[in-house]
Amino acid sequence: MSAPNSIFVRACKGLPTDSTPVWFMRQAGRYMSEYREVRKHHSLVEICKKPELAAEVTITAAEALQVDAAIIFADLLLPLEVMGLPFHFSAGEGPVIEKPLRTASDVKVLTTNGAPELGYVSEAIAACVKHWGSKLPMIGFCGAPFTLASYMIEGGGSRNYVEVKKFMYNQPEVWDELLGKLNIILAAYIADQVKAGADVIQVFDSWVGCLSVEDYRKYVLPRTKELISALKKTGVPIIYFGTDSTTLLPSMNETEADVIGLDWRVPLDVGWAMMKDRPAVQGNLDPVLLYAEWPEIKQRAKAILDLAAARPGHIFNLGHGILPTTPVQNVKNLAKFVQEYSAQLRGAVAGTR
Ligand code: CP3
Repeated sequence: MSAPNSIFVRACKGLPTDSTPVWFMRQAGRYMSEYREVRKHHSLVEICKKPELAAEVTITAAEALQVDAAIIFADLLLPLEVMGLPFHFSAGEGPVIEKPLRTASDVKVLTTNGAPELGYVSEAIAACVKHWGSKLPMIGFCGAPFTLASYMIEGGGSRNYVEVKKFMYNQPEVWDELLGKLNIILAAYIADQVKAGADVIQVFDSWVGCLSVEDYRKYVLPRTKELISALKKTGVPIIYFGTDSTTLLPSMNETEADVIGLDWRVPLDVGWAMMKDRPAVQGNLDPVLLYAEWPEIKQRAKAILDLAAARPGHIFNLGHGILPTTPVQNVKNLAKFVQEYSAQLRGAVAGTR
């Protein structure tokens, strides 16, 4: 850990803080001119694989926005390559997995000992830690087994998740073997990130919302619980994030992740209350609100902070990542507003006690 006493780490543990920590998913990305400049000379995967570049992109974004945590610049899909499943990013189409998984033998040949080949991610974390020391906490991350398996089977993004669900329903044992294999490599990959100085780990289950509660509980929850309990052994707080996940929240809560991410479809207090006795949540402004005029953004951010009511354990974020054409100034203004208003709110709450 590099910044164990930061307000971000404290909030992840459900402890009181003087203001609400704020960071943004995809805070380093195409909406920033500095990032577009780096991308003129390097592909996305090249940036990920060059620790000095990945660290530079991470640092530039966090310092421009003045947020309370930095997420390491990497991609969810990097572990696929070292398991034996190559992919590339095609312009306009997003990620493309060259030979999507279909059969038991496709799963059998996947390897699980390749985490050391992802060492460039830990090196980038170490470079950021060297830059900031204890001034800014670092977030490491990985995909959740369902979301990674859905890319491996669909071969890319998907609308109806037909292939992944077919696989799950028709080959349940092979499905479980696949999730088990992912967990092995992810646990080693994250242990390395924590050794390099990551303070908190976020597990992205971006596409989990396509599942019914019944299917989530039967096909996904047991392996997700297994992963999160393995990651908790590293000793750092774990954030478990999903989208379109309101109906799944009580089940996601059973993973015992330290923090659960809420998307914008549920009011913050309602989502929080759906997870009984939960110490910490993260969220949950609609990323598209960042395209609105400032008074609207401000009013909606204020509403979220008012719902949290200065209760310990709220980390402010969007309900999903920043979109590529978002106006940067709005993101900067939002971070500043959250920091200032949440500090004021604590004063007001203390005054009424
Ligand atoms: O600042 C950060 O949040 C850290 C960097 C980060 C990236 N990807 C860089 C990236 C993180 C946390 C991710 C996670 C990721 N990658 C997820 C989960 C997060 C989520 O939003 O739900 C997913 C699903 C992926 C897979 C992936 N990578 C997709 C679907 C895409 C979009 C393709 C496109 O063209 O829009 C990517 C590309 C990607 N990863 C970009 C960035 C900044 C796009 C920019 C580029 O091409 O340079």
